[in-house]
Amino acid sequence: MTTVDSLSAKDLLGIEPLSRDEIQLILDTARTLSDVAKHPIKKVPALRGRTMVNLFYEASTRTRTSFELAAVRLSADVVNINVQASSVVKGETLLDTARTLEAMTVDFIVMRHGSSGAPHMLARNLKASVINAGDGQHEHPTQALLDLYTVREKLGSIEGKTITLIGDIQHSRVARSDLIAFTKMGAKVRFCGPPTLLSADFGALGAEVHHDLKSALTGADVVYVLRLQFERHRMGLMPSVKAYTQQYAITSERVKWAKPGALVMHPGPMNRGVEIAPEVADGPTSVIVDQVANGIAVRMAVLYLLEAGRTKRAAAGGVS
Ligand code: NCD
Repeated sequence: MTTVDSLSAKDLLGIEPLSRDEIQLILDTARTLSDVAKHPIKKVPALRGRTMVNLFYEASTRTRTSFELAAVRLSADVVNINVQASSVVKGETLLDTARTLEAMTVDFIVMRHGSSGAPHMLARNLKASVINAGDGQHEHPTQALLDLYTVREKLGSIEGKTITLIGDIQHSRVARSDLIAFTKMGAKVRFCGPPTLLSADFGALGAEVHHDLKSALTGADVVYVLRLQFERHRMGLMPSVKAYTQQYAITSERVKWAKPGALVMHPGPMNRGVEIAPEVADGPTSVIVDQVANGIAVRMAVLYLLEAGRTKRAAAGGVS
């Protein structure tokens, strides 16, 4: 049982500020809300009259669609703004966008941006609730929440489990958010990759750092595969993709190094044949498709609980 019944902050900017009770509440609420998808009419009226804007400065298919479906299933209205910025968007432009949106009285802004801290800047300047859908190499909180949810649903609990993330840890906001989230909930997190894509600094943040795949996978309950984030690489981080694949790709032989029945996870988009073999991605212990389905329920829970917090603060006489 949790002792909280809403999210205390106006925004969801990262996993870091969430308490363990708040995470538990999100997971429990997601479980309840996942039933909505099974109804003949996949909708509840919780956010009727509310407006959510998807403001994406970086490419996205599943995260943007997932937020949109989550909002629609709670009866909110959704507007999509796709800003495919080719150069870095500077603070001033962002603030102008924020002020324009504020003038249109939107309630939720879901933002993805290439610069770490961009959603934080919006959140400071807006009354709307800002949800971080990925900021640079920093955080991707709803991905980590859906990962927690998936592990809890499939393995029964998170506490005491060993989660091994393999790949381009250095450039991955998913890896950072997962490290904080799984550690907070009592799991052990291992990171594995070549030294150029995984610096020893992660040890100080609580991860076990491995450069050898076999040792990283031995005893793991979850094999979590990450994409090589080529768009973020400077020159010379890897000798070649082939060399990476030879040493670190998760194949059906290598996955056996983990515990029998270990879950295989990936946040998508996957590069089949590079970081993961197709037969592993589609194998019996892969929960990659479940992650996508669970993402909707978890994002519904986040929207619902942020709204509950706003209602509570308004009733207490604060700013909603
Ligand atoms: C991730 C992202 O954008 O951070 N994807 C996602 O949200 N499902 C990971 C990635 O791009 O590799």
